[in-house]
Amino acid sequence: MRVRWFAAESALADAAAEFVGDCAEASARARGRFLLVLSGGRTPAGLYRRLAERSSFPWPRTHVFWGDERLVPPGDPRSNATLAEVLLLSKVDLRPQQVHRVPVASGSAERAAGQWEAELRAFFGAETPYPVFDLVLLGVGTDGHTASLFPGDPALEERQRWVVAVGAPAADPPVPRVTLTLPVLSGGREVLFLAGREKAAVVRAIEEDPAAAAARFPAARVRPAGGAAWYVSDDSG
Ligand code: 6PG
Repeated sequence: MRVRWFAAESALADAAAEFVGDCAEASARARGRFLLVLSGGRTPAGLYRRLAERSSFPWPRTHVFWGDERLVPPGDPRSNATLAEVLLLSKVDLRPQQVHRVPVASGSAERAAGQWEAELRAFFGAETPYPVFDLVLLGVGTDGHTASLFPGDPALEERQRWVVAVGAPAADPPVPRVTLTLPVLSGGREVLFLAGREKAAVVRAIEEDPAAAAARFPAARVRPAGGAAWYVSDDSG
């Protein structure tokens, strides 16, 4: 893992926007498209605002996905898609077919998971064992969860399915969710975690003893080939 510490949230968001922009340009040059997974939560807000203002970004060649989503109606403030749409997606040049929302209106988390996996398999090709995204953005909870993979949840052990439903009764908000699975998150060409200062202790524990942390924190089990990047804000640095 590669950790960068930032004294201010604004500096973290600036650096994250550079990271995403560089990844987008490199992916578009190398493969003609940029497959981006957005994280949930509130931490990415500053990043989204900066991406919306960037003068240069291959939006016409970008496809947007989410690492997880809450089963709430579209437009609900608790939806991960809502924050991205308000701060970013509504402001950049993306056609509807480039934004791959989780089908939350499917009636249940299980049906939404099955439908979204079918849509992803149609996009990536059903013969591929796992989808390969160019950049997976992730957050982390104070309990070490990431996406909607929570400590002790059986979803953490899923190795075949790309998408699973999670009950998440102890999560905030305590609503059913749909999440990409660990092999899919770890399959990203690049993985960037963004963490606010209240998560600094979790990040330090992962940095200091990754093996021990992996037993406690799902975020420590996301292990892309090149190692995950972590951008963390914290006064003590
Ligand atoms: C979710 C997110 C979750 C989030 C972390 C951090 O749906 O809850 O995907 O994994 O990234 O909980 O959330 P904050 O950025 O709001 O601290």
